[in-house]
Order: sequence, then C-alpha cells, then structure tokens
Amino acid sequence: MTIAIIGGTGLSQINGLQISEKKQLSTPFGPPSADYLLGQLNGKDIIFLTRHGNPHIIPPHKINYCANIWGLKQLGVKNIIGVAAVGGITTAMHPGRIVIPEQIIDYSYGRQHSFFEDNLDQVVHIDFTNPYSEDLRNLLINAAQLANIDIYSGGVYGCTQGPRLETAAEILRMEQDGCDLVGMTGMPEAALAKELDIGYVACAVVANWAAGKSAGEITMSEIEQNLKAGMTDTALLLEKVLNNWI
Ligand code: HPA
Repeated sequence: MTIAIIGGTGLSQINGLQISEKKQLSTPFGPPSADYLLGQLNGKDIIFLTRHGNPHIIPPHKINYCANIWGLKQLGVKNIIGVAAVGGITTAMHPGRIVIPEQIIDYSYGRQHSFFEDNLDQVVHIDFTNPYSEDLRNLLINAAQLANIDIYSGGVYGCTQGPRLETAAEILRMEQDGCDLVGMTGMPEAALAKELDIGYVACAVVANWAAGKSAGEITMSEIEQNLKAGMTDTALLLEKVLNNWI
C-alpha cells in the first residue's frame, strides 16, 4: 500500500528516493503545491509532495491544502505522514526533537478548511475526536524505538496562521490552552485527509523554543540549525518506517 510523505520546511526532498514519475495534477481546487514524486525509497513505493512548493516559496497561509490532499486521494493514497517544523512550548519539546503529537488545537483562519464548503446536502461532519491515525502513530513510534531515535510520543499541536511567529503572550495563552507545540501547517491538512478517509500522522520536528520560551528572539539561523539535526533523524525514521511497511 503506497504511503505518502508531505515534506515541510527542512524536508523539501528525500535523499535516496528513486523517482520513477513526476505527476502534475490538476484538481477542482486548483493546483497542488508541486508535482507529486512517485518512486521508491528502500524498495517501497512512496509518493512525495513538498508542501511549500518547489522552489520553497508558498507561505503556510497560502498553501492549497485542499488541492494537495485531493491529489493524493486521486493517486490512491491511503496513508500520509505529514512532516512539519514546529516550535516547542512545553519542557519536553526541545529543539531538534521529533514529536508524534496526539491532539490538535486549530487557531488558523481564512483557509479552506473543508472539501464540503458549498453544498449543505453534501456536508460531511467527520469525527475528529482523535485527529491522527493511531495505527500510523504506533508505526512511527515503534520504528523510532527500533532505530534508537529519541522521539516524544504525545502532546498537543497548536496551529497558528503565520507567516509571522507568535508573540510571547500568544504562546502563553496556547500553553494555558494545553498546547505543547506550535506550527503553521498542521491544519487544515489533517482534517482534509480525514474528510477523504486517508490516515494521517504528523511527524513534528522542533526547530526552536516558541516565543518567550528562551532568552532573546527567534532567529532563522537557529531554526535552520536545529532543523538540520532533526531532519537527519527524520530521514532515518522514515527509512525505518518503510522497512516495516507491508
Ligand atoms: N511558531 C510557529 N511555527 C513554527 C515555529 C514557531 O515558533 N517554529 C517552526 N514553525
């Protein structure tokens, strides 16, 4: 069964992916972020899509999430691993760490959050009690254990609108709400996958302490440095996941 990987900042390509086809798809929602790369990693079929486009230019609030997920459905994808950079809010979420969150709070706005926006007859109210696929979460957690990669399993992902980073007060409010992580792309991606009955898991890579959680300002060079370390582990983790994939 083909698995799809959506890569975010720091993962715009997958080393070792033997590309057999580049598919440009059109969807009723407009064009996806980039061509879908169909190929093999470790002998397993995968489909890779870079979320921010190629080159990396589409900001989080402008990503066509509907087109991206619709295209994956058209390609027959049943499972998605969404890799995304995040800021760490609570103490266990240190920079460089991979986190497989369990819950979501959505603070984003003005995005197309559903495939069912126009026709009330066709509206589908998906159950979103558990936003992530437990099977996929377990797959990643087990693979991390086998590969000896330090990950954190659990936590709440708070999705902000971006593209600016948050204020210290916003992060404090998110922490009081129960958020452990903050990112800009986790929603509506996860909900749209669920609307189309595609399993979805987030593989969050902590790039920085969120605003107000460390001394000083957040710099891009800090983010890039931490992401480099985190993405090396992510690549190893994905390889292991595919080894275990039927
Ligand atoms: N906030 C929101 N999104 C992010 C952050 C952050 O601090 N770091 C990486 N993505």
